[in-house]
Amino acid sequence: MANGDQRRLIEVADPAALAETAAGRLLARIAANDGRIAICLTGGSSPQQLYELLATDPWRSKIPWERVHWFIGDERFVPDGDARHNMAMARRTFLDRLAPSANIHPIPTDAASPDEAATRYERELKSFYGVSAFDPAWPLFDLVLMGVGPDGHTASLFPDYPALQETERWVVGVPEAHVEPFVPRVTLTLPVLASCHEMLFELAGSGKRAILTRVLAGEPLPANRARSNGETVWLVDKAALPGDSRAA
Ligand code: 6PG
Repeated sequence: MANGDQRRLIEVADPAALAETAAGRLLARIAANDGRIAICLTGGSSPQQLYELLATDPWRSKIPWERVHWFIGDERFVPDGDARHNMAMARRTFLDRLAPSANIHPIPTDAASPDEAATRYERELKSFYGVSAFDPAWPLFDLVLMGVGPDGHTASLFPDYPALQETERWVVGVPEAHVEPFVPRVTLTLPVLASCHEMLFELAGSGKRAILTRVLAGEPLPANRARSNGETVWLVDKAALPGDSRAA
């Protein structure tokens, strides 16, 4: 089902099918690139099943781990030993066992402040990309994973926050979160997240139905403003879909 604005919505049965479908798309993006690959992960609970899957066969043995670099779209500004740390969750779930450590690119939450962490991560992204201006023909990321919060935020881009308007900085500090956990955040900005072949949202469960209804109604929420310069795909399970979308 397409909604006419170049976003594709794919309906799957349940969270298990969602993780399988996301893993398939991730592998397809990897297969399309025979050079260095960059994947931007996301935090929250939505991607956890996907991360678990990537650590198991057949997925695990199909990933050319030496060639894949793993970044994160936003981070909670807490030490990496904190259970709320996004990259630490991904590391525990699959990266630390499988990816070379030089290919894991966390946002440095040992910085003095979220702004300093943002500056350092921006530098790291630019050095990885090689130049500091985006070439639309050469996206930074092969795939960007995203989730959506109850207020329509994605990454740590909250409704009406200045970070949403940022067009110059690649990464910014967010002093205060709009939803739990109420810790400062560091987030990639919309133009950086857009620099990808594919942006893949994952939404599962009835808890996402209210916000998905608002997204599909076209409200100018951060999650609606986040688009890939390539393909934007929303993977949604049946429980998350509003009734009228299910029939469409
Ligand atoms: C974060 C996330 C955030 C998340 C959404 C959805 O750091 O909290 O990156 O953008 O993706 O809040 O979270 P859930 O997957 O837990 O619903």
